[in-house]
Amino acid sequence: MVVSGRHVALFRLGDQFHALDNMCLDRGGPLCDGPIERGVVTCPWHGWSYEIATGTMVQDPRVGVSRHDVRMARYGRCSTD
Ligand code: FES
Repeated sequence: MVVSGRHVALFRLGDQFHALDNMCLDRGGPLCDGPIERGVVTCPWHGWSYEIATGTMVQDPRVGVSRHDVRMARYGRCSTD
């Protein structure tokens, strides 16, 4: 989805929703298309991976993709800040 002009990927871990910028820090791969395992999404292009809850890059925790707060509303709608 696009929020304020940014492409954002929405993930669900259990009953929690998380939103991260959808562009991998390497070459902009679409994180929303990557496999998820134990709370980590892996970019489908070259394998860089990110903690979904924080956006922190697994290979280099000093950097990461931006995360956005998610609010759930009635009828399953959600929004981000
Ligand atoms: S674009 Fe994501 S790992 Fe290369």
